[in-house]
Amino acid sequence: MPVAVIVAVDGPAGSGKSSVCRGVAAALGLRYLDTGAMYRAMTCAVIQEGIDPSDAQAVAAFARIPVIDSGVDPLAPTISVNGADVSAPIRSELVTSAVSPVSAVPEVRSRLVELQRDHVANAREAGVGIVVEGRDIGSVVLPDADLKIYLTADPAVRARRRAAETGTDAVGATEAALKARDAFDSSRATSPLTQADDAIVVDTTEMTLQQVIDHVCDLVHQRRENDV
Ligand code: DC
Repeated sequence: MPVAVIVAVDGPAGSGKSSVCRGVAAALGLRYLDTGAMYRAMTCAVIQEGIDPSDAQAVAAFARIPVIDSGVDPLAPTISVNGADVSAPIRSELVTSAVSPVSAVPEVRSRLVELQRDHVANAREAGVGIVVEGRDIGSVVLPDADLKIYLTADPAVRARRRAAETGTDAVGATEAALKARDAFDSSRATSPLTQADDAIVVDTTEMTLQQVIDHVCDLVHQRRENDV
């Protein structure tokens, strides 16, 4: 395996992807790219422009316009649209409820997949590895990744984690919203959430965050040893 190891991590909302990927990248000295944040940033730009997020034609026509920039330090990831920091607004309820239809638009996906592959090419050129998290990374964006992980967890547990993150008591409503987003993301025509055939499934339901990070770091080490 090359020194610049490429790790693809996919899974549904609330499976723990972001915390796990940041932890693994920080522990192993790799870069980190949150592709969900890029779809959220595009959604923010769509809303700011006054475009209806469910108007697929208008979203498609706009998809190449905003400048979306991701910082890839796992200890301080950043995301901006046209130079403005959007790390807070991308987590708002408004953006969360509009991101699925925006990310289903093929022109949005092709634009953001290009940017994602550029980040990976830059990491390779710099001789540094990268952990990339999303929904279609192992299946579509990086089919040649060195290691593919599919993180999953029981929906009730995912809802509890997400509710704790956002500071709400409404776990039932969070679970319903999570399931609706999963159903939309899994059934869309372009690059649905899927488990790549060669992905290793990690069910995090009964695991602590640190246990998952350690397990994924072990998988990276094993993959490296197998390649020697
Ligand atoms: O991981 P997240 O919840 O921040 O992702 C937000 C949305 O972005 C999610 O509902 C689906 C979409 N997404 C996608 O379609 N493809 C990706 N690679 C990452 C996210």
